[in-house]
Amino acid sequence: MDQFVLSLLILSFLTSSTFAQQNYSANSALDCNSSDETGPSPAFLYTCNGQSKSCEAFLIFKSQPSYDSVPAISSLTSVNQDELARINNVTRLSEFPSNKEVIVPVYCSCLGQYYQANTTFHATNDHTTYYAVASQAYEGLSTCASLKRANEYGLEFGVELQVPLRCACPTSSQISCGKSYLLTYPVTIGDTFSSIAERFNVGVKSIIDANELEENPIIYPDTTILIPLEAKPTTSNTIIHKEPPNVSPPPLPSRPENRTSKKKLYEWIGIAAACSLLFLSIILAILLLLRREKRNKVLEGSNETGHVLPEDLRVEIASFEQILKVFGLKEVKKATENFSSKHRIKGSVYWGEFGGEMLAVKKMRRDVSKEVNILKRINHFNLIKLHGVCENLGCFYLVFEYMKNGSLREWLAGERTENHGSWSKRIKIALDVANGLYYLHSFTEPACVHKDIKSSNILLDGNLRAKIANFSLARAATRGTANASLTKHVEGTRGYMAPEYVQAGQVTPKIDVYGFGVVLLELITGKDAVFIQDGRETLLSTAIVSILLKENAEFELGLFINPSFVGSQEIKFALRLARVSLACFTYEPARRPGMREVVLSLLKIQADLEKSESLKVDSVDVAVRHWCSSIGETNWRAEAISK
Ligand SMILES: *[C@@H]1O[C@H](CO)[C@@H](O)[C@H](O)[C@H]1NC(C)=O
Ligand SMILES: *[C@@H]1O[C@H](CO)[C@@H](O)[C@H](O)[C@H]1NC(C)=O
Ligand SMILES: *[C@@H]1O[C@H](CO)[C@@H](O)[C@H](O)[C@H]1NC(C)=O
Ligand SMILES: *[C@@H]1O[C@H](CO)[C@@H](O)[C@H](O)[C@H]1NC(C)=O
Ligand SMILES: *[C@@H]1O[C@H](CO)[C@@H](O)[C@H](O)[C@H]1NC(C)=O
Repeated sequence: MDQFVLSLLILSFLTSSTFAQQNYSANSALDCNSSDETGPSPAFLYTCNGQSKSCEAFLIFKSQPSYDSVPAISSLTSVNQDELARINNVTRLSEFPSNKEVIVPVYCSCLGQYYQANTTFHATNDHTTYYAVASQAYEGLSTCASLKRANEYGLEFGVELQVPLRCACPTSSQISCGKSYLLTYPVTIGDTFSSIAERFNVGVKSIIDANELEENPIIYPDTTILIPLEAKPTTSNTIIHKEPPNVSPPPLPSRPENRTSKKKLYEWIGIAAACSLLFLSIILAILLLLRREKRNKVLEGSNETGHVLPEDLRVEIASFEQILKVFGLKEVKKATENFSSKHRIKGSVYWGEFGGEMLAVKKMRRDVSKEVNILKRINHFNLIKLHGVCENLGCFYLVFEYMKNGSLREWLAGERTENHGSWSKRIKIALDVANGLYYLHSFTEPACVHKDIKSSNILLDGNLRAKIANFSLARAATRGTANASLTKHVEGTRGYMAPEYVQAGQVTPKIDVYGFGVVLLELITGKDAVFIQDGRETLLSTAIVSILLKENAEFELGLFINPSFVGSQEIKFALRLARVSLACFTYEPARRPGMREVVLSLLKIQADLEKSESLKVDSVDVAVRHWCSSIGETNWRAEAISK
């Protein structure tokens, strides 16, 4: 009888302890669309079911290109560099050989129903989706679904992703068995339970139990398992993995496991081909769906590309006569001395005097009605002002305000040969462009997208005030990113085009935000959007993203801007501006900041810069006046309309 009670007790103890461990995620960890509405799901993180709400925990990270040194892994995981060096028995600046297992000590705590260790990740061009961040950069130590959730609200400026890392604290039953720590281990092709158990001095059974695995389980790469440990892991537990063999042959046991084969508790860890196939087909289905949608949209909008008759144009212009003047050809010819070379500014743009006022005339052979329709709707100090139009035998002359200092591109080229323009000048220009775009996206009806934001389409007047010009690609679009209109005709300039526009023809205001990010980088560095580095064409955005990821980003950025850089206060501002551009390069348009946020952060940087400069000249008054004037400039040009 006593025995019966005892065995019952043992049985109930066993069942409760069994259910208290963590469930293995299997390939659900790779599914970005997992849901946990009905209860905690291993597709997210480990459930908060341990004895403590927080604890010390450990992760294994395999060194990989660009994350193969103590500083790099320390910044990837937000773990103190000294601590990381100490536990791995190396020095603070050591590099690791490729595929070396690195022990990462983390502080693991409950947040809601899951355990997590917090870190942040700066989005790069190599890891442009949550899936890539979770499974490539973090090797499965985070999951797509949990990244999606952690970054759903409030984009941290600077595209800093919040990354919850998978960790857990031991349950009471694990503690009663003497296990003090849980190690999160990312599964690698070629691992076997017996080899892992042997390396970490634990029983295979305790790993199987800790992960609620069945016998002979299938385990997937880019997922994690928990290893219960009695003591902190040391470098004697870690190995350097062999380069995985070519991925094409299915993983097969490289050597038979003679010890564990007795127990039949081992199983091969490898890619489940069926799972990859499933994922491929899902992706294919989504792509097909997108394409179909795109085709429909293009068909709907196809008459938009048809030419509007000049009559329509004239009617349009006439109805706005009080704002848009209709010039006669004689008048235009007289002003430009019959388009003499003396009056030529560049290409088919001439300057001329119209009643004592200096204006620019742009000669165009194509239909300009779309551009004119947009230009006559917009009135803002930072958008080029169209004074009037002249039409003669299918040839159009647009008369604009005259911009004395030419394009930003030319100005930057000139600055490069002379000296660097002051930072306050550059920030002011950036703010002008940002304000112009903010107006264009938010204060026109319908919203307008410029589609070709680049430094050569930004003009500077005599006071170096910037205005956005060339609206020939501009078009109306919805304001949000959800119902993006699609185009199959992708036009634009290399180095400035947003990925969703190039890849899917998506047109939303966010493609201008991307272009603005590149213009901002040109302002910071003085370099072209596509420049030659080590004999190769390099995108400025790519170059800067990789610089910003480095440990000593400030110094590297200084060197990049000016090789004879010796270090100065101003480079701090350059770095802050570069971070703003980085945010503009956020891969997902919905998470990319809008121009309002960009304007606000530029204003903040401008204010700080002027504060630091006013400290130098010991005159706070100047800063205050500058700050006020920059706010005043954001007022839209109401007078211009009433004129
Ligand atoms: C594991 O999965 C089972 C069945 O889905 C569930 O009842 C249990 O709560 C899960 N355990 C944890 C720790 O999430
Ligand atoms: C994602 O899951 C939700 C429900 O969980 C579903 O409504 C939606 O259609 C799914 N999306 C995709 C692309 O599978
Ligand atoms: C740390 O490394 C040194 C030599 O680099 C070695 O002698 C020592 O045994 C190592 N310690 C551990 C705990 O592995
Ligand atoms: C981790 O980050 C979340 C927000 O992302 C925060 O609520 C939580 O307090 C953080 N945990 C720790 C231990 O800092
Ligand atoms: C079993 O493993 C030992 C070393 O671990 C090895 O010497 C032996 O050849 C193996 N036996 C089989 C049958 O593979």
